[in-house]
Amino acid sequence: MGKKNLDWSNLPFSYMKTDKRFVANFKDGKWDDGKLIKKDKVCITECAGVLQYAQTCFEGLKAYTTQDGRIVTFRPDLNAERMENSCKRLEMPVFPKERFIQACFDVVKANKAWVPPYGCGATLYLRPYMFGTDAVIGVKPSKEYQFRILVTPVGPYFKGGVKPITVRISDRDRAAPHGTGDIKAGLNYAMSLYNIVDAHKCGFAENIYTDPATHTYIEETGGANILFITKDGKLVTPKSDSILPSITRRSLVQVAKDYLKIEVEERQVNKNELTDFVECGLCGTAAVISPVGKIDDHGKEITYNDNKDEIGPVLSKLRETLIGIQMGIIDAPEGWIYEII
Ligand code: PLP
Ligand code: COI
Repeated sequence: MGKKNLDWSNLPFSYMKTDKRFVANFKDGKWDDGKLIKKDKVCITECAGVLQYAQTCFEGLKAYTTQDGRIVTFRPDLNAERMENSCKRLEMPVFPKERFIQACFDVVKANKAWVPPYGCGATLYLRPYMFGTDAVIGVKPSKEYQFRILVTPVGPYFKGGVKPITVRISDRDRAAPHGTGDIKAGLNYAMSLYNIVDAHKCGFAENIYTDPATHTYIEETGGANILFITKDGKLVTPKSDSILPSITRRSLVQVAKDYLKIEVEERQVNKNELTDFVECGLCGTAAVISPVGKIDDHGKEITYNDNKDEIGPVLSKLRETLIGIQMGIIDAPEGWIYEII
């Protein structure tokens, strides 16, 4: 099967309907066998739990074409585990890990023609998601659910790829203390929509959220965790119970320590420390590592990498190593790369 005729090097980060999606239904206390289908439309009752009480969660991972032409994915076991935590927290049934991974494989195989070729800068984004499908009017969990995986080819999340972005410190919160900030619930993103639209209107690419209880410590942005580099080359990344445990961040911490011999500090980061760092970046499946050139803290501007219009040297090394591992150029730690085709 040939590749689709797309302008692979100029793909935006947006949805494109591909050939097949995976669908499984949970009814009478169990999941059915699931199947790949062509139809992209979802038909549910007007009173479905997802529509009334936002009972939904999701995941995000990517399939990559390696230098030697294989198609692989990166640590899908961790996406399955994180979705398990999201489901438990939202009173939803767990889609078993082995089945989650197999469904990722099946949907990528069925959409092989949509997997961007090696070297073009694009990847195939997989979006597993689950939602309550039966009618609920009192506030309670659904009894029936649908689990789906859609795939879509994507380019960089931030326009310009690795061009440094400007972000602002937000006064609003995305998560409550002891709330749902550490799971991938749709409601966390609904909460952030007003704020991201406002940020874009004001010329910022993202919002940095601080800890919701005291607004003292740096947490994460609406769609990525944050990395800092100190003057003496250490990697510092915020630790908090209300941020999403990013698989990219957890992987980069290991890459920093084991591959690049960079010292790592996972700890609370006070807002006052922002001027102490020399590089800053956002990390995630969509963001990969996107450099931050400037943080706007209520009119006070903090710049990174000497205000140069490029990614800094330490983040650049981390980014190249991670991408090298994902694209099969650099040997991966045991169990990180799952070969699909
Ligand atoms: N933080 C938030 C709020 C996100 O939406 C994401 C994206 O998944 C991340 C962090 C990065 O997580 P990961 O590296 O697992 O994609
Ligand atoms: C991801 O990186 O997979 C996400 O879900 C983040 C989202 C903002 C696109």
